[in-house]
Formats: sequence, C-alpha cells, structure tokens
Amino acid sequence: MLSGLPNMNDVNLLVGFSHADDAAVYRLPSGETIVQTVDFFTPVVDDPYEYGAIAAANSLSDIYAMNGRPLFALNIACFPKQYPAELWREVLRGGAEKAIEAGIPIAGGHTVDDMEPKYGLVVTGIVDPNNFWTNIGAQAGDAIILTKPIGTGLITTALKNGDVDSKDAREAIEAMKTLNRAAQTVLSGFDVHACTDITGNGLLGHAAEVAKASKVRLEFSLTKVPFFATALRLAPDGKFPGGSRANRRYLGDYVSVAERLPEDQVWLLFDSQTSGGLLAFLPKSQLEEALTQLHAAGIASAAHVGWVHHGSGIEIVK
Ligand code: CO
Ligand code: CO
Ligand code: CO
Repeated sequence: MLSGLPNMNDVNLLVGFSHADDAAVYRLPSGETIVQTVDFFTPVVDDPYEYGAIAAANSLSDIYAMNGRPLFALNIACFPKQYPAELWREVLRGGAEKAIEAGIPIAGGHTVDDMEPKYGLVVTGIVDPNNFWTNIGAQAGDAIILTKPIGTGLITTALKNGDVDSKDAREAIEAMKTLNRAAQTVLSGFDVHACTDITGNGLLGHAAEVAKASKVRLEFSLTKVPFFATALRLAPDGKFPGGSRANRRYLGDYVSVAERLPEDQVWLLFDSQTSGGLLAFLPKSQLEEALTQLHAAGIASAAHVGWVHHGSGIEIVK
C-alpha cells in the first residue's frame, strides 16, 4: 500500500516510516526532538470504559517503545450516531483517565459519525535525540526481553464469539490496560540497542521489523515466551483472528519452526496483539539485572524470550 508514494525526506525527520518504526521522530528548530504517533481501532472488549482505557494505553505505547515521554494527546474517534451519548462518554472517560495516569492532558480531538466505532489517540512526546530506541540496532549476542504475555488477539476474538466470559479474559484485559511506562522506565536504565512494542503484527511480525532493520537473525524459544493461561487453553481450537492468520502468511518462509513444537503455541507467536508489551534488545551481560529490576517494578511476566545472531530471518526453537 505504501510503495510508490512520494519520498518525503526532511533533514529534521530523524525517524520516518522506512523501517516500520513505532512513531515518527522530528527535530524542532530549538534542537529538541519530538516523537509522534496515531493509533485507533474497533472495540476489543464489551465495557466501553475499558475499551477507551485499552485504546489509550495502546496509543501511548508507541511513545514508550521509542524511549519517549508523552506530552499531550488528541482523541480520534468514529462513533455511530444512533447509540446513546453516554456510551461514547464512557469510552472517552476511559481514555481520559488513562491519559491522566500517564501524566498528560487530552487537548481535544476529532469525531466522525461512522457505522463501526473506532477510538484512539494521537500522542505527541519528547525524546532525548541521543537516546531514543528504534527497530535498528539489535546486535548479534543481544538478549531479547518481552514484558507482557501473548494471546490477546485470540482471547478478544473468543470474547466476541462468546467462547469465554470476561472473567476468563480478565488477566488479558488488565494487561492491555497497563501502560508500558514502568517497563520503559526500568529499561531506560540499560543499554537498549533496539525496542518495539507488540501490537497488530504479533510477536513475530514486530520482531521481523527489528530483524530486517537491524540486519540480524532472531532466535525465539517457544517455552520461554509468556502466554496468557486463557490463550493456552483456547489455542488448540485454532480460532485465531484473521489478522493473526495474515501475519503468518505475510512472514511465510522468513520464520522457520523447529520440528515437533506444539503447533497451537507456534500460532500464538503470530497472534495479533492489542496493547502488548515491549520487546527490548540489550547486551547479554545486562539481561539478569534488567529482568530482576523489571520483576521488582511489578512487571511479573517480563521474560527472556530469545537471542540475536548474525544472519537473517527468525528461528523458533523449543
Ligand atoms: Co508500535
Ligand atoms: Co502504532
Ligand atoms: Co513495531
């Protein structure tokens, strides 16, 4: 879709869309550097307040994934007119309270009448021009850390189909509402070579963006990847959302899977996530200390999930 569009080079645009990065980074005339992102999507849970909170946490995540500090946000919303205003007020309240938690104001926004509801934020933040994280920079020998469990695509699809109730989905809903700020705060104390957050392209889709931009090969250990218990229970039924299937199709031969791995769990690695965790690449020597500090900061699911090697592609091992 993006191929063939005019080149928009600008000496002050430090990060554009050439390496599928999470947000744009732009140097202001003052020398300060801003980071900006936009994200919005259709409801993933029934509760309008929680939907708003998840959408806001997801939008803010791209700022944290680049080691930025959010400054302010704008709402972007598509709401069907025929539903009561109170419903949409709850969505906006969920977003507003999440923004307050992140320490930023929502300064306005834009709403259009649409059949299918959509909500999210445009977020502007600030980064240290000498210390922001992108998809470029992962090095052979680096360890890979993931800070939230995987499986929200499968779980929210099951929720929509009535295959699970919100009690079964609670753990995933709480994770989607959780800001990646605490993870970023801890990781910013380390020599992070590359970082992204895990959203629609799934763990392996976003990992592939890093592998390609950094020109390295990634190895993921299936048994080390944290999964939501409900996702592990649902996976054997194989009712993955279309986005997850598209992720696997898109990656194709780029990902090689070792023999005799449970196929349902392999599928989870491609599962399209909402408001997922950070995927950080840092020197092996800092791995243990980073995990210790992440756990101490309450990020209980943070785990070492793989390694970076010379070469290209992604390899899934036991
Ligand atoms: Co992102
Ligand atoms: Co995004
Ligand atoms: Co990404």
